[in-house]
Amino acid sequence: MLAFQDTVEEPSEEVPAGLATVPACGVRKGVVESFGVHRFPSPTARRNPAARSSIDYLQGTGMNTVREHLGPSQWDTWYRERRSVDRLVTDAEAIRFLRHVAPSAGASVLDVGCGIGSFSRQLFRWGYNVQGLDFSPVAIRIAERRGIREGLRYGVHDFDAGAIPTTLQPRSLDLIVCRNVLPFMDHHRFLADARRWLRPGGQVYVLVRVWPERGGEPHDRPWQRGFTEEQVQDLQNGWAEQERYWLGRHTALFLAGEHRGSEQCAGGRDADPPPAARP
Ligand SMILES: C[S@@+](CC[C@H](N)C(=O)[O-])C[C@H]1O[C@@H](n2cnc3c(N)ncnc32)[C@H](O)[C@@H]1O
Repeated sequence: MLAFQDTVEEPSEEVPAGLATVPACGVRKGVVESFGVHRFPSPTARRNPAARSSIDYLQGTGMNTVREHLGPSQWDTWYRERRSVDRLVTDAEAIRFLRHVAPSAGASVLDVGCGIGSFSRQLFRWGYNVQGLDFSPVAIRIAERRGIREGLRYGVHDFDAGAIPTTLQPRSLDLIVCRNVLPFMDHHRFLADARRWLRPGGQVYVLVRVWPERGGEPHDRPWQRGFTEEQVQDLQNGWAEQERYWLGRHTALFLAGEHRGSEQCAGGRDADPPPAARP
């Protein structure tokens, strides 16, 4: 029950039967996009006689280790080769998300590094006014092909290099979603900006893969980049309100409240302790 197998894993908790439909907090009925198992290489890549292994893929892009920067052209290649599938929102994630965030009609959300927009569309179904930004033009084209509407729009933007878009004004956002994206960015700089964009009471949602040690990611799969436990705790520093839980080897964070110096950090509450043994 997962998709985008390389970044989102099957949640470790039991999902109650019949929960493919998630209540939409009285705004819109929200149906989580259906699940599927995406194996690597994807079925599309397997059918394609020119399909390449992940190592070939990396060599083809001039990228050999996970420590190298993944730029827009590498992500373009990733999306062009359909290595991501459009079915990555699991019930367990959606249920937890809605427990922590109560969408109110028209609340503004930024989906950072939105890729092909799977979570953006889900947010739209839950009633948000969504802006999905990603530096991969290929991903954004795919997202747009899957539907743009009033309240669901996309744009190409590099959060590390681009000038801040005019759509991101101080105190203009209710929610900022960073799903499997912070390890690919200058996340300290980004979060400093993000704090300014949040309205009072606004939240940041982070989903990230956790690795036991820095550089623990498989070298032939740079798209599996994540954070160590220490880096996750560093992310939590300075937020007055923090909630955290585990989804398989990913951790999810809800951060809110006035930023305080890390020395004043309240210390987050782990809603769920991590599983005992995590490779
Ligand atoms: C692992 S994918 C996650 C996509 C999506 N958030 C999801 O949950 O499926 C990481 C995405 O981050 C984007 N990305 C990486 N660095 C970025 C940056 N500096 N600015 C904008 N997008 C970036 C990539 O293009 C890619 O679409």
